Amino acid sequence: MFDNQLEPDEVITVWQDRFATQRADAANDGKSDGQVLYELNCARCHTPQFSAKGSHEQPTGSSVEILAGQDGAGGYGRPLSKASLLEQFPDPADQIDFVSSGANQDVPYGTRGLGNYGMPGFGTFLTDEEIEDIVMYVRTLSPDPNVTSVAGDEIEPLAAESEVEE
Ligand code: HEC
Repeated sequence: MFDNQLEPDEVITVWQDRFATQRADAANDGKSDGQVLYELNCARCHTPQFSAKGSHEQPTGSSVEILAGQDGAGGYGRPLSKASLLEQFPDPADQIDFVSSGANQDVPYGTRGLGNYGMPGFGTFLTDEEIEDIVMYVRTLSPDPNVTSVAGDEIEPLAAESEVEE
């Protein structure tokens, strides 16, 4: 272990404390545990602009407001939406296993996924119940017509019938 690395049980404490802080924040009232956990653990890769959101001062003195996109619309990580996830993981239990262990380079997952860019595993510091809460939240997300990411390969292209009807 390097000096600046946390021991595994310290990681659990730090992460669970962060969740408790977010859960207690009034800004998160009305959000499910799954959504709060999603925003804490997943949004930086799976929601467009999540990490950049907020007010940013420009060198000229003016400021710009960056808004995060729709939850699960994709960013670095693949877009997550009900339509694609129900096909990738027809059984939620398989999606829970995937989120626990993460993806490995060139290793297939789900019905047509291929690990590539680096989906980390969360099973070492989130509880099974928390991962299930996140997965159930993510499985309710609607497809975003303005999906921004194609990161991650698919073994077969999305079937035409999964296209959103207006
Ligand atoms: C560091 C960036 C990153 C984080 C954080 C992250 N993911 Fe991912 N995720 C990815 C990438 C990249 C892929 C595509 C697979 C690959 O290449 O590894 C992916 C793929 C997925 C998939 C499969 C989607 C599909 O249709 O193939 C699911 C489900 C998923 N992530 C859920 C989550 C959840 C839930 C969390 C939070 C607990 C999370 N991810 C956190 C980067 C991330």
